[in-house]
Amino acid sequence: MSISWSKDLAVGNTEIDDDHRELIGIINEFEAETKKAAGTVDDAHMRHILGRLQIYAQDHFAREEYVQAIAKYDGLAENKREHEALTRTLGDFIARFDNGTLGDRRGSTDQMSSFLSNWLMGHVLKIDLKMRGKVDIG
Ligand SMILES: [Fe+2]
Repeated sequence: MSISWSKDLAVGNTEIDDDHRELIGIINEFEAETKKAAGTVDDAHMRHILGRLQIYAQDHFAREEYVQAIAKYDGLAENKREHEALTRTLGDFIARFDNGTLGDRRGSTDQMSSFLSNWLMGHVLKIDLKMRGKVDIG
C-alpha cells in the first residue's frame, strides 16, 4: 500500500518535511514497479530505485542531524544512533533482496515493499516527530 503525506507527519521544518516527502515518493515508486504485471517488471529499474533510496536516505540523515545541531536539539545523539541503525537495516534488507534470501520473486518484492514502508514510518513517526516544535528554523 502506498504511503501518503499528511500534516500528521510534519515535523515543522521545511527542509526535513520536504526530504520526508521525497523519501515517500521513492518508496512509492518502488511499490509501483512491483505492482506491474508479471513479465513487465523492470529488475534494473527496481534496483536503481533502491540505490537512489540509500543515497537519499544518507543525505537526509546528514541534513537532519545538521538541522538538529543548529537548533541545539537535545535528541541529536539518540537520533544519530537511530540513523546508523536505520542505514544498517536498510543495507541488510537490500542485500537480502539482491541475494534472493527473501524468497521467490513475488514474495521478495512484497516483503521489500512492506519493509520500506515500515522502515520509513518507523523513522518519521517514532523518531522524527519528537522534534516537532524544536527545530522550527526553516
Ligand atoms: Fe527524517
